[in-house]
Amino acid sequence: MEQVIIENEKEDLMVVQELKKHFPIKNGVFGKTTGEVKAVDGVSFTVKKGETFSIVGESGCGKSTVGMSLLRLTEPTSGKIIFNEENMLDKNRNELRDLRKNIQIIFQDTYSSLNPKHTIKKIISEPLVINRKMTNEEMETRVLELLDLVGLGPHHLYRYPHEFSGGQRQRIGIARALALNPQLIVCDEPVSALDVSIQSQILNLLEELQKKFNLTYIFISHDLSVVEHISDRVAVMYLGRIVEMGSREEVFQNPQHPYTKALMSSVPIADPKLKDKKQRIILTGDVPSPKNPPKGCHFHTRCPFKTEKCAEIYPEYKEIKGDHKAACHII
Ligand SMILES: Nc1ncnc2c1ncn2[C@@H]1O[C@H](COP(=O)(O)OP(=O)(O)O)[C@@H](O)[C@H]1O
Ligand SMILES: [Mg+2]
Repeated sequence: MEQVIIENEKEDLMVVQELKKHFPIKNGVFGKTTGEVKAVDGVSFTVKKGETFSIVGESGCGKSTVGMSLLRLTEPTSGKIIFNEENMLDKNRNELRDLRKNIQIIFQDTYSSLNPKHTIKKIISEPLVINRKMTNEEMETRVLELLDLVGLGPHHLYRYPHEFSGGQRQRIGIARALALNPQLIVCDEPVSALDVSIQSQILNLLEELQKKFNLTYIFISHDLSVVEHISDRVAVMYLGRIVEMGSREEVFQNPQHPYTKALMSSVPIADPKLKDKKQRIILTGDVPSPKNPPKGCHFHTRCPFKTEKCAEIYPEYKEIKGDHKAACHII
């Protein structure tokens, strides 16, 4: 039988199905639950081996909660997170510890994610101490190797986080994330606190490391220009849900959801040809509270194209092209 080899067909590394995280709102002395914040309200996506999958949206839409849920740093309310064909949500503590070696996270705020009282050596070797039986010498060799990978040197070993610039601190965070040779790194706004020139250095480093180790990234950002630079595929989130998802080219050049179009309208475009083509949608009003999301399409309260149906029924995804899809009644 003839074998058909499909080019560019990458294997699935993580499949997320109907992920929800509702935070209870507790009030009064007895801590009675009086409501819930629907931070993540039914999110599904697939991340392929070796790709950068980005999650973009305004502050408060649930991006970080998705990221934390994927590592079970916050316990999801429901859903499935299949990683290497195993459901992370079925695992007990010990099993989870093993799976977690393969998934790491880096954060925007390196002040709180790097212990100020620890030397760089201690910070980077922390995952090795917990997970590997290594002699002190082996440990030091590995830490030096990791420092070299992120562009830092042996003279940095015994320094403290406050002695470094923001960009260097993020390099330290990346070195620690790499220590156990993970398959997947969740990058939660890793360059949002940095100057633009430093941002591109860190993004280049992440790309270089991805190629070298065939890393998969879930890249979380509110910044469309960063997302356009780094992503293979993009998911746009609004109020706890993904409203549009597809390849970077499709989402950026052929956006369908009015919310995606509005986000794009807020980014300056240098290319005059594209500028003319672009439909400008200016968002008015605030993002509604996830304590009380609007009925129907969550975006209808700010949507210039809303119809009666939009206020009643949450739209299903419509397939646009390939795996590009968007949830909107009017497309
Ligand atoms: N621990 C928590 N308890 C209650 N509400 C939370 C908690 N963490 C986040 N939230 C709420 O969940 C929503 C989504 O937050 P977050 O995931 O941080 O958004 P983003 O990363 O997109 O800015 C926000 O309304 C936020 O206030
Ligand atoms: Mg966040």
